[in-house]
Amino acid sequence: MDFLTLKVSHLKKYSKFAKLNPLLFKWKLIPTILKTNLERGLRRIIFYIQAWYPLGHGDNTLIEEPIFTELAKKYGKSNAQIILRWHVQSENIVIPGSKNPQHIKDNIAVFDFELTANEMSKISNINKNKRYYVPNPKLTASYAKMELSPELDV
Ligand SMILES: NC(=O)c1ccc[n+]([C@@H]2O[C@H](COP(=O)([O-])OP(=O)(O)OC[C@H]3O[C@@H](n4cnc5c(N)ncnc54)[C@H](OP(=O)(O)O)[C@@H]3O)[C@@H](O)[C@H]2O)c1
Repeated sequence: MDFLTLKVSHLKKYSKFAKLNPLLFKWKLIPTILKTNLERGLRRIIFYIQAWYPLGHGDNTLIEEPIFTELAKKYGKSNAQIILRWHVQSENIVIPGSKNPQHIKDNIAVFDFELTANEMSKISNINKNKRYYVPNPKLTASYAKMELSPELDV
């Protein structure tokens, strides 16, 4: 099933005949594109949800949302770290992509602070339903040519 066309009705149909539920489902998941009913339905039948492009492919319009800037100041973290912490507290498996050694270090350092329930809900309520990644041949070709930066190429 293509996750872009997945609907709550599909989950209901699935639950009627499935004997074994999937353990993991990789789903496009960033704070602004939560589909609440679908997410609730998924969480009922699937044990782990893994965020697909957890930082919106690094899209600045996501990373620079005012709520992330506000919380980054409060906790002395970067905006990206606030997004990643939101994923962790939402119990999403999160594997951000980065070729930048400093970002890689930052992306691990999200376990020394905790967002409040109110902050979690403010983030979840951004919900602009915006798509940050629209595949096209140029982008697909750039993935195929992606290389590690020299310091990571061990
Ligand atoms: N199944 C599929 O078809 C598919 C396709 C795409 C991706 N994925 C998976 O999704 C995961 C991540 O995908 P992704 O890399 O495209 O998206 P992503 O993790 O949402 O975003 C990566 C982008 O965020 C930037 N970034 C990372 N850490 C940052 C930080 N601390 N501060 C600011 N910017 C930061 C990176 O730039 P820098 O390099 O400069 O840090 C990069 O441009 C991976 O697990 C990947 O395997 C799967």
